[in-house]
Amino acid sequence: MPPPLQLSDLAGRTPEQPISHFMKLALENPGLISLAAGFVDEASLPSADYREAIDHLLARPQTARAALQYGTTQGHPPLREKPLARLAAADGLTPQAMGLTSDDVVITAGSQQLLYLLAEALLDPGDIVITEAPSYFVYHATLAARGVRVLGVPMDDEGLSTEALEQVLQRIDREGVLGRLKLIYTVDYFQNPSGLTLSRRRRERLMQLVREYSRLNRIIVLEDAAYRELRFEGDDLPSLKSLDTENQYVVYTSTFSKPSAPGIKTGYGILPRDLMAGVLRLKGNHDFGSSNFGQYIIERLLETGAYDRHVVELQAVYREKAHAVLTALAEEFREWPEVRWTHPTGGMYVWLKFPPSIETGPESPLQRACLREGVLYIPGEFCHVRPEDEPLPTSEARLCYGVVALDQIREGVRRLGRAVKPLIRPAQRSSKRAAAV
Ligand SMILES: Cc1ncc(COP(=O)(O)O)c(C=O)c1O
Repeated sequence: MPPPLQLSDLAGRTPEQPISHFMKLALENPGLISLAAGFVDEASLPSADYREAIDHLLARPQTARAALQYGTTQGHPPLREKPLARLAAADGLTPQAMGLTSDDVVITAGSQQLLYLLAEALLDPGDIVITEAPSYFVYHATLAARGVRVLGVPMDDEGLSTEALEQVLQRIDREGVLGRLKLIYTVDYFQNPSGLTLSRRRRERLMQLVREYSRLNRIIVLEDAAYRELRFEGDDLPSLKSLDTENQYVVYTSTFSKPSAPGIKTGYGILPRDLMAGVLRLKGNHDFGSSNFGQYIIERLLETGAYDRHVVELQAVYREKAHAVLTALAEEFREWPEVRWTHPTGGMYVWLKFPPSIETGPESPLQRACLREGVLYIPGEFCHVRPEDEPLPTSEARLCYGVVALDQIREGVRRLGRAVKPLIRPAQRSSKRAAAV
């Protein structure tokens, strides 16, 4: 027997990502329709654009050598200009008016690396983080690894409830631990997992609260705008970053993964200056710079307009897919008003709520019935941090229409319906009906 291996505290605190189980299931069962994985639409991946960009780079010896060499920790300077210009344009402003320059931008290995670096730069065990409930579950594992206390704030059709947020802030203040609150995390456009978007009025209120409660230390808002460019209905809303006029409170992060190609795994963050310094020191330890070649490719796609053309195409793809899911759900559950779901106007996710008696967890009768029928969803409880004073919601599910082919969506939802309906108790149905009338 070899001597026992002693993992670090950090590795010991880091839970396994629950999604890996579902990825494995999908790979092992090719007949399954996966409404689980958060992968992007495959048929529209812009391979011809990537080939043009790579050919262009490699055909010019000087550019080829620069792209194939190491870059800088902060990222390729001409590329850093671009997300900034795009953010400002989306908010109807200029970088100057936002008080930002490309020195405030860091290019990362996907936005996931920025999320991780920020947790590393800000959080010590015992610190407090507020997230939306539900929220992006991959980040929960990062937060667990840091040993922090995570408090969830419920959401409704306007996104994170700022009324509930205020109550949480008051509670932390009463407990005398306001100084430990370091971070508020929001996926404020077409959230993963719920598809919900933070309303304009709540954006303003959130920033007011953050300023008001930053009495003991500055609370950072992590605005994860991974899906912002994938709006397929309605008008864009101002970023929280645009409401942070002195570049002090908000970290804006987004990615080229979802609007272009996850395989390029390139994202970025726009950060307050004092935070940038810490993040860059840590990134120096991680990788001293994300893939330089990838950054040159993205720069080329942005420059030629191929990137924007693709985003428009993708918006149409997801509009059609979202419509297919919502229509199928409406048809499938027409007679079942106790089953409810969100209506996203962008992104790739729909959030389902079943009556409390229908558990959706990984070993639940519903999950088993879905496997028999040949459809996969993500159990909602994966997307919640265990609440401190309430039970964990166990009757919710995330559906993703990203990677599933359009012509499989109706059948996937039909299979879900076949699995769910026998589990809804008749007594409960009629009493719910009576209550509704
Ligand atoms: C909300 C959210 N943030 C960040 C990421 C990370 O994406 P990437 O690292 O590919 O940029 C994802 C990926 O699914 C996501 O859903």
